[in-house]
This record gives sequence, structure tokens and C-alpha cells, in this order.
Amino acid sequence: MCGIFAYFGPKDNALEIVIKGLKKLEYRGYDSWGVALKVANDFVIHKELGKIGDFSFADIAKITQSGAVQSKINTSKFSDRFKISIGHSRWATHGGVTEYNAHPQWSHDQEIVLCHNGIFENYLEIKKKLIDKGYTFRSETDTEVLAHLIADYLKNFDFETATKKALAEMTGRYAVIVLFKNEDKIIAARRGSPLIVGKGGVSNEYFIASDIPAFVEYTNKVQYLDDNQMVIIDQFGARFEDMITKLPIEKRVVEIIWRYEEADKGDFPHFMIKEIMEQKETLYRAINQNENILSQVAEAIKKARGAFFVGCGTAGKVCMTAEYIFSKIAKRHINVLFGSEFKFHEHFLTDQSLLLAISQSGETADTLEAIEIIQKKGGKVVSIVNNEASTMARISDMMIPIKAGPEKAVASTKATTSQIAICILLAYALINRLHDGKQILIETASQINDMLNPRYEEHIQQVAEFLKNFESLYIIGRGLNYPMALEGAIKLQEVTYIHAQGFAGGELKHGPIALISKNTPCIVLVANDESKNEILSNAIEVKARGGYIIGISPENAEVFDYWIKVPDNSNTSPIINIIPIQILAYQLALLRQNNPDMPRNLAKSVTVK
Ligand code: AGP
Ligand code: GLU
Repeated sequence: MCGIFAYFGPKDNALEIVIKGLKKLEYRGYDSWGVALKVANDFVIHKELGKIGDFSFADIAKITQSGAVQSKINTSKFSDRFKISIGHSRWATHGGVTEYNAHPQWSHDQEIVLCHNGIFENYLEIKKKLIDKGYTFRSETDTEVLAHLIADYLKNFDFETATKKALAEMTGRYAVIVLFKNEDKIIAARRGSPLIVGKGGVSNEYFIASDIPAFVEYTNKVQYLDDNQMVIIDQFGARFEDMITKLPIEKRVVEIIWRYEEADKGDFPHFMIKEIMEQKETLYRAINQNENILSQVAEAIKKARGAFFVGCGTAGKVCMTAEYIFSKIAKRHINVLFGSEFKFHEHFLTDQSLLLAISQSGETADTLEAIEIIQKKGGKVVSIVNNEASTMARISDMMIPIKAGPEKAVASTKATTSQIAICILLAYALINRLHDGKQILIETASQINDMLNPRYEEHIQQVAEFLKNFESLYIIGRGLNYPMALEGAIKLQEVTYIHAQGFAGGELKHGPIALISKNTPCIVLVANDESKNEILSNAIEVKARGGYIIGISPENAEVFDYWIKVPDNSNTSPIINIIPIQILAYQLALLRQNNPDMPRNLAKSVTVK
């Protein structure tokens, strides 16, 4: 996970640019952060625990005006040279959240300074060899190993060769940016975690970041690093190289179109509620698709000998929903797997298999791994993504953009409903009734537009007040709404830290009903379809054991202690029923004094396995 950012160029405020960029990348990891500014043959390094969002720009002066730093800057003719700075916003994988473990990490005398996103899987083995050679380690990270290893190679090789040799020894998925105190040069390498180069407005100015928003205010000219590629930036410009063949690569400069305004909170207090409310429009955008692509994907699903829908977390629950949608609408079976479980099914794959990867970010490591596996078998990949510039979008054979606009809150909301909408469109495309699918979704979008108003929020607020002190609650659904019971539980877990669990209504009597006692809250998702009577019976069973029933349903029912009314549309009930839970989760997060946008222990983009 984590965000990494580097600046190389003429601007004196390099450090400020890096800190600003890191603030934009904070959604990727926010337990600690750090920056390094190269000052002649030396570095100024600053690290802090906590979120970089809390750091005020006025405090940059405190970093650069400290006596030691000033003397370095004054004696180094800082203004004559390229300004080079790197930074990192961490999501710890190896070692606790401490200043020692925060990045940048460095070799002994700060000869090599680097930032790392990902995991070096063989770090223990290499660490042992380095300890045997006399190296000592300050941190518990896997990252520090690379700094010492490069330093070790530097004894016999130049910076570039030493870095290449060290990287060749490391296994795992990563992105790194590396500096050497004696050269005005940045080396950046990618194997599995995203890294994008932005070509600045003035000559010889470059930005390197985990994601485009970090530098888009300076340039819209980007060069994407693919896996096993590196870039070396120095006074002569940027050179790209394949890390396996060692051959130079000609990198295309892509001009991107980016809409800033959507990535701001606007008048909303948090991104989460802004993104929930945006569902008034996002469904319309999702529906507005290139029909040829939808038909081509539908054709590919028909022809495939095994179509696998793969995603993680919420996207995984959308895949499960797709299974019910395809069965109900298109009478077709699809396979559903979480990204992290895909490899255990690889024996079933052939060059006739089709993988449909669902992902908001398009960068989730577990889903990317599934893509790599199927591509090795010769199968084809369709990605259904929000970030059209993402790795997944670029490596897929076909791509369907969900067009939800930037989703910044860690808890996915608008992307979820748009992904479900695409699955519904695909199911209708499969039976050559795309137009009907669109009509149903347009009707749903208009129902959601009416539903999302302040009165509706106030109505849900009353349940939030009731639930705020509970430490566990359950959600049940059947059929199309079973995966949404699981998704509702994720939403509540993520931002409220309440132990929420979702079940298929019919499964309760096989065990989980033992958890119900007096006043245990149970949210029941009801759709006006063939599952309705049975899920209501399940609710009655819970109530008979003392449970407090919160019904999310188009119609009231006697069993409900509290009723949250939703519009009636049986084909799109997963889209409609999840929205009140999103609002409830947000309100509960606030009542429990949690930050709904950046919940503890999580990150928006999960780029480690
Ligand atoms: C959603 O609320 C979660 N933050 C998480 O489960 C997320 O859906 C998952 O990590 C997959 O992300 P992706 O859609 O970017 O691949
Ligand atoms: N594995 C590294 C660490 O634990 C990098 C984690 C990250 O990607 O933020 O520090």
C-alpha cells in the first residue's frame, strides 16, 4: 500500500511539493510518513507518526530552518543544483508504527536513502547475510535491507549498477525510489506496485508517484512504468529500462484528462458522505456505456469455458452479487472468487478461461495476481474498474469503466453500486436485452435520486443513535441480497469498528442464531422478489429469540422494530438496499468519534498481498 512521491527539477520548494503530493496519496496508507531532501552530498530527513494530513505547510519552515539544515543548505549552493526530494506515507507491513520504521529508510551513513511500497518477501534471508557481514539494522522493516544491500554493492559498483544488482536479488511485489548522496539522480523501479512518472512543465523536471493526483496540478504528461521496469532520472532526462532484459525502453508520453473538482470534499464534511450522495448521479454515468464493448464482453462470457468474476473485499461482494444477477437474468453460471483465493483454483484454468476483474482502484495486488495467473494460462481478461489509468485497465484485454469519479473514502460506496450496475447491464447484454437493462437502471437511478434527501438521513440517524453503543450486530439477506448482507457488514466494520456480521438468512438456524439474545440488533434486507417471505420468516425467528429487527424494505412488516423504507425495484434491490447501510455506517462512525474517511488499520488501495 503506501504512497510514494519524488520530485526532481529546478523548483526550490521541492520539499513542499513532495509533502503536498503525499497529502494527495494519503488514502493509500496513513500510519506514519517521512520525507528526504537532498542537499548537496547530504540529506535532510524528517519523519512523523500519524497522518500527513495533520501536518501544516507552515511547519515546513520548521524542517528547513532548523540550524543544522540551514547550515547544510547554506554551505551547499543548494540553489545551483537540481532539487531532489522523496517522500512516503506508510501502511506498515513489517514492523510497528514507529519513527524508526517510517520511511525513508537509509544505509549506515545515509549514503543510500529510499522509500518502498510493498513487501520484499526474501528480506530475512538477505538480512541475515548482511548481518553476517557486519551490517546493523535500525528498523524492523523489510525495506532497510535494500538500503544496506545497495550500499554493500556500492563498494564495488557505481550507484546504478549497485541498485540494479540489489533489486535483482529481492523477491516480492514492490515499487521503490532510491537516492544516493553523491549523485543528483533518482532511480525508481516497479514490480507489482504502481509507479507513474509525470513530465514537468519546465525542462528536466520530473515527478514520480504511486498515483496521478499527487502531481496532476503540475503536469498532465505521464509515463507509466510497467512491471519489471525502472526509470533513471538525472541531468540528461529520464531513461527507462527493462529490469529483466536490461534493454532501454522507449516510453510513450500520455496526456491525461483529469477533473480536479471531483477529488475535493466540496461542502461535505467527509468524502464518505459526499460519495454516498454522489450516487444520485453516478448510476446514470455507469449506465452510459459503449454498447459495443458491453456486447463484446457478453460474447466473450458466452464463449468462455469458465468465466471467473474476481475481486477483493467489497468488489468481491459485488462479484458474488453478479453470480445471482447472471443466474436470475441471464440463466448463466459464472464462477466467483476472491483475488487472494484465485491461485488455489488455477488447475481449472485454460486458454479458454475468462477472468472478469472488478476493482475500484485497479491496483489491488490480490486481483492483479489473479490476472497474472490467468494470463500465464493464455486466458483473457476483462477489467471493470473506476481508475481507467490503473494497472488493471492497462493490462486487460477489454476494460469497462464504471465512471464513478474519484473515490477517496476508504469505505467504497458509489463505486460499489456502479459496479453492480455494470454487472446488471452485462447480464442483460448476454440475453440481447441491453436496452431493457438500461431502462431498469435508469428507473433505479431516479428512485435513488428521490431517496437521497436530508429527511432520509434524519430517519436513519434515529437507528444510528439506537445502535451507537452496541458492540455487535448482524445483517441477513437472501438471494440477491445475501452478498449485500456481507457487504453491509464490511461497511459497518470498516468505519464503526462494531463487530458486524452478514449471513444468508436461511443459514441462521444452522448455527449463528445461537448468537442472538435480548435486543441483539439484526438488520434484515428485504426485496420484493421470490426471497421475500423466507427472509421475513428468518427475521421472525430472530425476533422470537429477543432480537431487535431493523428492516430495510420497500414495505413495512409486523416483525420490524424499525423500518427503513427503500424504493421498490426487485431487479436492482442490491443497489438500493446497500445505500441506507452506507449512510448508517457513516452516521455511526461519527457518533462513535471515528474518522470515516480514514479508518484505523486500513488503506484505500491494497497493493500488498
Ligand atoms: C471497501 O469498502 C474496502 N475498502 C475494500 O474491501 C475494497 O473494496 C477492496 O480492498 C478492493 O479494492 P478495489 O476495489 O480497489 O480492488
Ligand atoms: N514493507 C514496508 C514497511 O513495512 C513498506 C510498506 C508500505 O508499502 O507502506 O515499511
